[in-house]
Amino acid sequence: MTADKVLVLIPTYNERDNLPMILDRLRAAVPDADVLVIDDGSPDGTGDIADQRAAADEQIRVMHRTEKDGLGAAYIAGFRWGLERDYGILVEMDADGSHAPEQLPRLLAATAHADLVIGSRYVPGGSTVNWSRARELISRGGNLYSRLALGVKIKDITAGFRAYRAQVLQKLDLDAVESRGYGFQIDLAWRTLQAGFTVAEVPITFTERTVGESKMSGNIVTEAFLKVAGWGIGHRVDQVKGLFRKG
Ligand code: GDD
Ligand code: MN
Repeated sequence: MTADKVLVLIPTYNERDNLPMILDRLRAAVPDADVLVIDDGSPDGTGDIADQRAAADEQIRVMHRTEKDGLGAAYIAGFRWGLERDYGILVEMDADGSHAPEQLPRLLAATAHADLVIGSRYVPGGSTVNWSRARELISRGGNLYSRLALGVKIKDITAGFRAYRAQVLQKLDLDAVESRGYGFQIDLAWRTLQAGFTVAEVPITFTERTVGESKMSGNIVTEAFLKVAGWGIGHRVDQVKGLFRKG
């Protein structure tokens, strides 16, 4: 384990039946880590449940945002909150049980030699459980496409279970990030690499939620597809410009 202070960010939108379970598991698995729940005014009362938990446990905090504004915007607000409070490691984790808190210590350990650690389904030892064939195809396709378009080696660049060293998030221009769903995860990994930081992947088991609904949509996939194409082309143009400058 690392000596850095760890903050786990959990974005929530209508997760009332998942949040207590995930908080219990997280507090048991990584007792030293603080937790910030970032709720976008969930109509189902998830924010109230989070408040009750925070009142009973000083390591749990809640950020209430007024409307549903996407996973990416929630994480950026959470990153800023954590950076202002001197956390050394900032973790992204879903509330729905897809990311096992019991596997978080392995991600944290890997931050000793990487600036961004991604919990990966697609490295040896990684897996997905209870995912539909269609969902797995979209995910694998998105990863293959991103690897080719961007020329990166990351096997699971859309993954949402991650640990960032604070230096990374301090250096990146978070104001410039517009992406929402999958696109947000690819966006930050790409910016992290472009800024010269190191990325490591550790295998995880991703278990599809059994309660509540996914918030992913076709729009989110399309957004990611178009943005990745734009970054890939921009990167290739920069490389060619570089060649001319050298020659
Ligand atoms: N605050 C907030 N605002 N939270 C949100 C919002 C939002 O607009 N949208 C989703 N969330 C929360 C959910 O409540 C959940 O805790 C987490 O973000 C993930 O949302 P899901 O809807 O369960 O996402 P998913 O399972 O489809 O996607 C997961 O896997 C993808 C890769 O396959 C996520 O980890 C993605 O980040 C990842 O790209
Ligand atoms: Mn999910």
